[in-house]
Amino acid sequence: MISVDYSKAAGKVSDFVPSLQQAHTWLQEATGRGNDFVGWVNLPRDYDKAEFARIQAAARKIQSDSKALVVIGIGGSYLGAKGAIDFLCSPNYNLKKKNTPNIYFVGCGLSADYLQEVMDLIGDDDFSVNVISKSGTTTEPAVAFRFFRAALEKKYGKAEAAKRIYATTDKARGALKSLADAEGYDTYVVPDDVGGRYSVLTAVGLLPIAVAGVDIAQLMAGAAEMMETCRKADLSENPAWQYAAARNELYQSGKKIEILAAYEPAFRFMTEWWKQLYGESEGKENKGIFPASVEFTADLHSMGQYIQQGERHIFETVVRFGPSAADLKVPYDESDGDGLNFLAGKDMDYIATQAMDGTLLAHVEGGVPNMIVKVGEKNAYTLGEIIYFFEYACGLSGYLLGVNPFDQPGVEAYKKNMFALLGKPGYEEKGAELRAKLGR
Ligand code: PA5
Repeated sequence: MISVDYSKAAGKVSDFVPSLQQAHTWLQEATGRGNDFVGWVNLPRDYDKAEFARIQAAARKIQSDSKALVVIGIGGSYLGAKGAIDFLCSPNYNLKKKNTPNIYFVGCGLSADYLQEVMDLIGDDDFSVNVISKSGTTTEPAVAFRFFRAALEKKYGKAEAAKRIYATTDKARGALKSLADAEGYDTYVVPDDVGGRYSVLTAVGLLPIAVAGVDIAQLMAGAAEMMETCRKADLSENPAWQYAAARNELYQSGKKIEILAAYEPAFRFMTEWWKQLYGESEGKENKGIFPASVEFTADLHSMGQYIQQGERHIFETVVRFGPSAADLKVPYDESDGDGLNFLAGKDMDYIATQAMDGTLLAHVEGGVPNMIVKVGEKNAYTLGEIIYFFEYACGLSGYLLGVNPFDQPGVEAYKKNMFALLGKPGYEEKGAELRAKLGR
């Protein structure tokens, strides 16, 4: 169960009920802007069960024949899986003793050094590749795939390599789909009506997450429960309504930046996923809350000063988790050299809670409205709830803001320039124009 406490953030949330009702109808009935991309709304109930079973079988095969899985993708084809694996299996997953493969994410940038390092880390180990691209034409993953496909073919031969390549892409279109069909790769589908940033609960996220040993049925069960909660057209019962309304009220009052905070290092990459979800959905038509993130308490010692006393254009949303699995109590120290014996015997969760409450009050007093999103214990079910909650609230929030939450026209601008400067056929004129601007 997820609850939202906006008592220290917003007061006129109920004013948004008529707009929430409209936005809710647009999502539930697929009648709003961008309605071709609301397949994620019922996904936790309507997902392809046969493909889900294939994903679980593929994960078992990869676990049995590979010491490493290279996951190739960027943006929505990367952040959800990375966030989920860090959160559920630890950011130190690859360093842990385990009977599941190491997982390396590549194709999420263009750093030669990073790519080389992953190739070196894999070394002679048996490995498989999951290449993920909805369009099948994105440059970064396509370039990375060339390297790892070549490495697989060199190590195993073409036919055997093909059995170690899992392609997640459009069901019919794109260069990756054509290549996968020609080479006989095992393929998984990114549904037409699910955009990249909403795709973590499709094969895009599910295959890598399952390879890491996560119970993806639990992930979907949590999402399904939250889907039912979010179907309620009632402000008092729907936490997504509350969150969407509160952040829009704050935006209208001049708070242009939202900081998502968690006191849990393993959640750091889920905040990256959240940033893409909200930034790409809302940042358009010269509007949108700028999504930022911090990890507390670490960032209280770096960003804390700005949050407390910098420009007053921010609000904070803190994700608070249920009890930790580890039961750690502060040891008693005879000498008490650090003066901390007043904490001896207190558990770490208790100390963290006091830090959270103290920080919340300080930030609110400093002019930073604070919302708390309270979630359950850290497990796959809870993560499913969190994912669906933020997705649904994002759809609502974009509609409240007056934009199409499901397109991303601005993402194309850098691609055109990059292709032009790289000399891609068809971009010659643009290339000359850009080189002149760069003085080349
Ligand atoms: O949300 C989006 O649409 C983008 O972030 C894409 O996910 C990203 O650009 C990767 O695209 P693709 O999966 O087509 O390679």
